[in-house]
Amino acid sequence: MPIIIKSRHEIEMMRRCGYIGHHILRKMAKAVRPGITTAELNQIARIELQKAGAIGLSKNYPTYKPNEGYPAETCISVNEEIVHGIPGPRRLKEGDVVTLDIAPAVDGYCADTAITVPVGTISPENEKLLRITKEALDLALSLIKPGKLWSEIARLIQHKVESNGFNVVREFVGHGVGKRMHEDPKVPNFMTAEQLRSDFKLRPGMTLAVEPMVVSGDREVEQLEDNWTIVTADRSFAAHFEHTVAVTENGCDVLTDGRAPWGI
Ligand code: MF3
Ligand code: CO
Ligand code: CO
Repeated sequence: MPIIIKSRHEIEMMRRCGYIGHHILRKMAKAVRPGITTAELNQIARIELQKAGAIGLSKNYPTYKPNEGYPAETCISVNEEIVHGIPGPRRLKEGDVVTLDIAPAVDGYCADTAITVPVGTISPENEKLLRITKEALDLALSLIKPGKLWSEIARLIQHKVESNGFNVVREFVGHGVGKRMHEDPKVPNFMTAEQLRSDFKLRPGMTLAVEPMVVSGDREVEQLEDNWTIVTADRSFAAHFEHTVAVTENGCDVLTDGRAPWGI
């Protein structure tokens, strides 16, 4: 599929989704404390999405089994869970790290954003894991410029992560986003010969979800029995930060950083 270039108007429509996503993540993050369940965190998102007239695109996201889509408005992944954790009765406890991932849609456009937050006081190693993952995302965004190949940026994300003693997940990558949550191209956080074959050049009007997933141990992953939750095979901790951005004439415009769209 070709990469779909968005107009200024479409980018502003996406910023509306990004604004909603940013504020819901902030509200969920403020509620994170020992004792709260991940279902209660999802409930906050469900209510806020409804208030905003938006939907959470993970809800009913199809799987290979018919009539068994993803069951919640957000993905909430704890500790060794990397992505696609299902909100439920699990209670967070002091020292956990929790990833909150939401993809709101409103008026036919989407955005996709995620953060990993600490529950109370976490170990210095986990603090570093969260910090380096966020810095890897910020680094990638600071390097986005039209004319550049994504592979140049992907290599630097990987280098940032690995030189700090962590690893980049290979099975999941960022993606184009627009009228659909997942569009082409694939936006990896590492570079291999295989990835290089689907490399692409950044152009103004491209809208991308950039989302490094970083693990403190080995990078092998497993899927749990629920057919959704992805965990590290060695059960080491993971972190994940995601922003939706538009490539501009001279850099990048972050659509999920909480800046108000036109008309708000
Ligand atoms: N928000 C996820 C992403 O970053 C996708 C969630 S859809 C789900 O791409 F169904 F897998 F939950
Ligand atoms: Co996401
Ligand atoms: Co995404």
